[in-house]
Amino acid sequence: MSAWHLARRSARMNPSIIREILKLTERPGVRSMAGGLPSADTFPVQAIRDACDKVLREAPREALQYAASEGYAPLREWVAQHLVAQGLTVKPEQVLITTGSQQGLDLAGKVLIDAGAPVAVETPTYLGALQAFAPYEPEFVSLEGDDDGPLPESFRALARRTPGARFAYLLPNFQNPTGRVIPRARREALVQAARAAGVPLVEDNPYGDLWFDRAPPPAMASWWPEGSVYLGSFSKVLTPGFRLGYIVAPAALMPKLLQAKQASDLHTPSFNQRVVHEVVRNGFLDQHVPTIRARYRAQRDAMDAALHRHMPAGTTWHAPQGGMFFWLRLADGLDAMQLLEHAVAAGVAFVPGAPFYAHAPDPRAMRLSFVTLSPADIDEGIAALGRVLHEALSAAPLVAS
Ligand SMILES: Cc1ncc(COP(=O)(O)O)c(C=O)c1O
Repeated sequence: MSAWHLARRSARMNPSIIREILKLTERPGVRSMAGGLPSADTFPVQAIRDACDKVLREAPREALQYAASEGYAPLREWVAQHLVAQGLTVKPEQVLITTGSQQGLDLAGKVLIDAGAPVAVETPTYLGALQAFAPYEPEFVSLEGDDDGPLPESFRALARRTPGARFAYLLPNFQNPTGRVIPRARREALVQAARAAGVPLVEDNPYGDLWFDRAPPPAMASWWPEGSVYLGSFSKVLTPGFRLGYIVAPAALMPKLLQAKQASDLHTPSFNQRVVHEVVRNGFLDQHVPTIRARYRAQRDAMDAALHRHMPAGTTWHAPQGGMFFWLRLADGLDAMQLLEHAVAAGVAFVPGAPFYAHAPDPRAMRLSFVTLSPADIDEGIAALGRVLHEALSAAPLVAS
């Protein structure tokens, strides 16, 4: 018998299905649309190399030493300034630098969730957030939604049926996994409904800068700053390897988030923060991000065209206006999870939609990333997927409706 006795919360920790799937997709010859990774071709290697040299030349002792848990002050100031474009008026003292925005999710969970407390999430939502919150043993409540995001009515239902929700986790911009944007009028209606229901917001925005045609509406937090925690990230606009993100929180929450962060990792690596600040401080992202947008836009167009060419009748999707993902709904009778193995055998991989649901998964949903393959590989991959789906449909017994 083992001497180890696992904590109850560990029962709520599960291997990421996506990581398991990614192992399958690493087989040679598989065109993978499964990952949630940005394109490595967008990483500004030279700018980062120059910044590393400069930081090590000019401030080696500070960059390699322990540092403040709040984060590197000039980077906090830069973040506060940067957020003006999202409609947010933020003081640097409200910015906590985190080890990826994933840590921001964990800290929000640690500080705000008691076992059994309701936490509202979108339907579907970011799987990594479900994983971050789950060990704190919340009772997830799925907010009902449509193509424009959660319905304001769902907050009224939440207040009636499950009062006392600690927060609602929302992804207004190019959501992972669906790619949709919450339009401005819906944002305002949602904030109003959340305020009336007394449910604060945790707003996650790693993709907002990756728009293709027009910038998304202001952050939801701009309508209710004292009732919102806002998460941002450098992963999708610079590089995920530095693990740099941030939380913006109202003054009332900041001390507890900071203490939670201290307990977790003391601080985010000083060297990484200084290098990223050195890269971004003179407006580098103003030139760099448009190059990512142009690249991803062309890949989005290639995937949309390929889907039109190769998908069987009954498959539905919306071309995303930004971000990294298409969300497909397969024809009636198909199950994305069951088809994955056939697809990998045919040389293409995707992520089934089911793990992105807190409850009642849609077996017909799948997520496709369009950013890591060339347009030609996207076409080949979607053609292979189309063949798998056509075959499955011709083999599927007719479903009585
Ligand atoms: C919606 C969402 N939130 C948070 C993260 C975590 O990003 P990071 O920790 O790299 O900032 C991701 C990563 O894919 C994401 O898609």
